[in-house]
Amino acid sequence: MIIAIDGPGAAGKGTLARRLAAALDLAFLDTGLLYRAVAAKVLADGHDPAVPAVAEAAARSVTFADLNRPDLRREGVGQGASQVAAIPGVRAALLDLQRRFAGQPPDGKRGAVLDGRDIGTVVCPGADVKLFVTASLDSRAARRQKELRGRGEASIYARVKQEMQERDARDSARATAPLKPAPDAVVLDTSEMDADSAFRAAMDIISARTAAPPA
Ligand code: CDP
Repeated sequence: MIIAIDGPGAAGKGTLARRLAAALDLAFLDTGLLYRAVAAKVLADGHDPAVPAVAEAAARSVTFADLNRPDLRREGVGQGASQVAAIPGVRAALLDLQRRFAGQPPDGKRGAVLDGRDIGTVVCPGADVKLFVTASLDSRAARRQKELRGRGEASIYARVKQEMQERDARDSARATAPLKPAPDAVVLDTSEMDADSAFRAAMDIISARTAAPPA
């Protein structure tokens, strides 16, 4: 069973995807971490994440072990991730890793939950259930600020909101695998939902989509 969860930043995808994977005993992959790992490698070498040759070489060298780097959640790395993510050669280099995870989930799990921007549209177009998790710009900016502050990173709301808008624009406008709901995705707007209600709503959608049709 493959569950694809896509949507913009700080919409609640990560928390939801992790909870669904635990409840359904599936493997979990946060694909944003792969793009973050590419950006972190490029930045650590003092290069510009927007330069294709450099970003592509970093993408080819990424392995699942890189997902444990401690610097991946920094906001600067997030911006760099959305820059490297616009480069087709970077996306191509990461596609295989993601499909292998979905096809042969680790730890003998019977399936996987993947979260990202293009899981339902490109990585796993045949997923059993596709959710497009979104929320208003203001609620996402407020959540991102809370997350940054929780990690002790100083942040100004107006700046967090502006960076989020820039990242949304870049992710939605790129030519390769832009952020958009798959035609068969169910849209879940979490602006007015806490983590528990989003989880319940998602479980209801999954049960309805995976229930055997009446004989
Ligand atoms: O934490 P947040 O949702 O803001 O970002 P993330 O999921 O860690 O992803 C960081 C960046 O990677 C995004 O802004 C996208 O540009 C890119 N990304 C992508 O293009 N495709 C994916 N499947 C996942 C992430």
